[in-house]
Amino acid sequence: MRIALILAVATATAAALPIPGWAQAKAAARKPPPPAAAPKAEEKDAATLEFEKFRAEMEDSNPAELFEAKGEELWKARRGPRNVSLAESCDLGLGVGVVKGAYVQTPRHYPDAGAVMDAERRIVWCMVEKQGFNFDDIAKRPFASDTHTPDITSLVTYVAAQSKNMKLAVPLDDPKVREAYEIGKEIAAYRAGPYDFSCNTCHGADGKRIRMQALPNISTPQGALRGVQGWPGYRMTGGVMLTHQWRMGDCFRQQRFPQPKYASDAVAYLLTYLIGTANGLEYKGPGIKR
Ligand code: HEC
Repeated sequence: MRIALILAVATATAAALPIPGWAQAKAAARKPPPPAAAPKAEEKDAATLEFEKFRAEMEDSNPAELFEAKGEELWKARRGPRNVSLAESCDLGLGVGVVKGAYVQTPRHYPDAGAVMDAERRIVWCMVEKQGFNFDDIAKRPFASDTHTPDITSLVTYVAAQSKNMKLAVPLDDPKVREAYEIGKEIAAYRAGPYDFSCNTCHGADGKRIRMQALPNISTPQGALRGVQGWPGYRMTGGVMLTHQWRMGDCFRQQRFPQPKYASDAVAYLLTYLIGTANGLEYKGPGIKR
């Protein structure tokens, strides 16, 4: 009964979430930036501080937990044309069915797939190879909208939560992973498109901002950590649960690049660079994003 309720809530819009003050807080978070020229620096900082405070208050009743619960059910359920569970068939790198600590040790190289994969890509691989789901069906709508949260999003959230408070440990001493890291680094520096932007144009130096957002410098461990922390995350803009794969795709869009294919090499390599750069720092689990 309780699970059914949780699932119903997880698929409903954020406005319906039974969290005191949620609607007001969300409305405040959505308030459009002041129209006139650029707001003063102090005002931006005040907005950032306000959000940080709100996030800290939310940490005890993080909406991401609803998706963790759903993801755990999905992980353990016999599903797909082959009627097997991921728990009994999927190896995230630490052995079949092992989820504890797996997220912080991805991306990694999987010899059975012959590829470097981030956690989301690996789970998709297992859904296709072990459970018999069709990749194109999953890739058709891989990310959440306000009316639909794909199973893969809940699964990633569950797996990520099993690495809460663990240190990021992408196995960069594996030559295949190291190569992916280097390619990811090149992708981050690659300038093209109508504005001749690269990732680094917006994320390659300290102190850059766009509108209200302070942009992390992903070339430093602390900056990269900021780009890792809180993903997968419950995003207040739109009120949906989104994954790290989504974040990468959306930044390609900000760059006015064509979006990479879902679960592709390019995204896995970028994530290897981003998460690998934050290696050794602590991951706090699925979070809340503005
Ligand atoms: C035009 C500027 C721009 C470019 C180019 C750009 N981004 Fe972003 N990026 C942003 C903005 C703005 C945000 C914050 C968006 C938000 O929170 O709504 C962001 C957010 C992020 C985050 C999440 C930060 C956090 O606090 O969680 C990561 C990681 C990231 N970008 C990586 C990348 C990568 C990798 C690329 C290259 C593929 C890229 N970005 C290209 C502007 C850009």
